[in-house]
Amino acid sequence: MRRGPLVALLGIGVLAGAAATAVALFLPWLPPVASKERGRIDLVFWFVVSICILIFAIVVAVMLYSIVRFRAAPDDDSDGPPIHGHTGLEIVWTLIPTVLVTAIGIFSAIVLARDDALGKNVLDVNVTAQQFAWSFQYPNDGKVTTGTLRLPVGRSVQLHMQSKDVIHSFWVPEFGQKQDVVPGIVTTLHITPDKVGTFPVICTELCGLGHSVMRTEAIVMSRSAFDAWLKSQTKATGSSNASVSGAAVFKNNPCGSCHTLKAAGTTGKVGPDLDKLQQYAKAAGKPLAAFISQSVTDPNAYVQPGYPKNVMPPFNLPKQQLDALVQYLAQSSSKG
Ligand code: CUA
Repeated sequence: MRRGPLVALLGIGVLAGAAATAVALFLPWLPPVASKERGRIDLVFWFVVSICILIFAIVVAVMLYSIVRFRAAPDDDSDGPPIHGHTGLEIVWTLIPTVLVTAIGIFSAIVLARDDALGKNVLDVNVTAQQFAWSFQYPNDGKVTTGTLRLPVGRSVQLHMQSKDVIHSFWVPEFGQKQDVVPGIVTTLHITPDKVGTFPVICTELCGLGHSVMRTEAIVMSRSAFDAWLKSQTKATGSSNASVSGAAVFKNNPCGSCHTLKAAGTTGKVGPDLDKLQQYAKAAGKPLAAFISQSVTDPNAYVQPGYPKNVMPPFNLPKQQLDALVQYLAQSSSKG
């Protein structure tokens, strides 16, 4: 091959590769990285993208060069020479993809194995999914239960996930993994958060009318802040045997992700504003306490006009907790 065509091919290839690289690097394709597992997954992603850019550059170079160099003249109706088979070429174009795909396979297997490997001092969290809310329990830490997932930074976390009804799927984009939550079995997910911050927890399996509102937050805290939070929660749960705090029941269930309640500082807009409960009870024609109790245990019995049915799940709380919650909501709304 003469030098002229090689230089032309190389020039086009470099330009095409540079353009593709710019598109890959300078557009925000992916959410920020907030877990070690996600970091490794991204490494595989960029490895594959690099291979794609290389192949793209070669294909574009050969194609553009051929279009210009071998274009037929306007009055040229002749056929090209009949070419049939080229064993050398066929071996090359089989061997190169084989090597690349095998490399991707080995790289992915290593990343999967390392992502699944639990670190030392694992924090177990039980995750319960139901239409349409998440709840999280720390079984080895006083069975603290919360509607917001709180995790310490840098510690290996194992989620044990169960569904009360249909198939849901747990996803925090910044953590980089999805795992189905399937009724009847316990699925697990391993996360090692490596960035402090607040990230969305999203249900990513269509699970019913309220699927799009089945969201909460994962708050990654410093280790000391997490320990302090856990301690304060353990205390709150421990003393609840004597008298259950309605505020704690509200906080430990996902009420606040959908409802506004000034007293609890929540601003959810999916469901009705709980500061207007008195007004709603009047519209429903029921005494306030009975109305609240019914709305928690059988939400579809009365649905506030303007809000869809079947979005709020029924909450079967122990009687003590239900009574405390009803009392708390009745008091808070009369202040509001
Ligand atoms: Cu749960 Cu979608």
